[in-house]
Amino acid sequence: MNRQKIIAGNWKMNKSFEEGLSLCSEVTNMLDDEVNGEVQVILVPPFLHIHALSQLVKKSKRVSIGGQNCHYKQSGAFTGEVSASMLKSAGADYVIIGHSERREYFNEKEDILAIKIQLALESGLTPIYCVGEIKAERESGDFYDVIRKQLNSALAGFSASEVSQIIIAYEPVWAIGTGLTATPEQAQEIHSFIRSEIESLFSSVCSQQIPILYGGSVNANNAAALFSMPDIDGGLVGGASLKSRDFVNIIKSI
Ligand code: PGA
Repeated sequence: MNRQKIIAGNWKMNKSFEEGLSLCSEVTNMLDDEVNGEVQVILVPPFLHIHALSQLVKKSKRVSIGGQNCHYKQSGAFTGEVSASMLKSAGADYVIIGHSERREYFNEKEDILAIKIQLALESGLTPIYCVGEIKAERESGDFYDVIRKQLNSALAGFSASEVSQIIIAYEPVWAIGTGLTATPEQAQEIHSFIRSEIESLFSSVCSQQIPILYGGSVNANNAAALFSMPDIDGGLVGGASLKSRDFVNIIKSI
């Protein structure tokens, strides 16, 4: 199955507005000069930067913009929050849902995440749904159950055609921002497991179509080995997406 290759850069709470504009311009210029192959690049800046960045990348077929989160309602009295439809109207085409930092610091659970996925789809955004185990779950061997639950509880209410519009990111929490990366074999094992879960929940066609990204300390040195695995369709990159040269080198390695 020839699935689309995708590299997303999650800037988290980094970069001033001016720094964000520069980083975006540097990345798009380098891509124009250095990358020929078909890869979808998604820049995921803080909300404030989305509109301006979407204007900057308008002419690029390869680069799109995403949001790092959205609320579980489309509008209302939720001070400080941003909805999926607002992200879309500001120029985003993607939204990360269920990142481990949202799960950990904002106590986001799968029932809420399922609603966010629904609203993202209704708003015309592609959700990037994150799953992954913490260190203790990896060490105890419970990680298959954890990931199965994260998939089942958030996705079971959707149809196969809806799930075909979602991207999944496997991000072992112990590998995020720690410099510890899953080995290509460890990551492949989980990606293949996720595909088999999607097959049993939905269909084999759906499981073969759905892009599954790896995230957790991806850098220019380890990216090629990870991306060479049959079920790894790209990466969700945090720290290494904040420097244009590092990020573009990761993109080139796919
Ligand atoms: P990292 O972050 O690449 O800095 O480990 C990945 C992520 O949190 O998406």
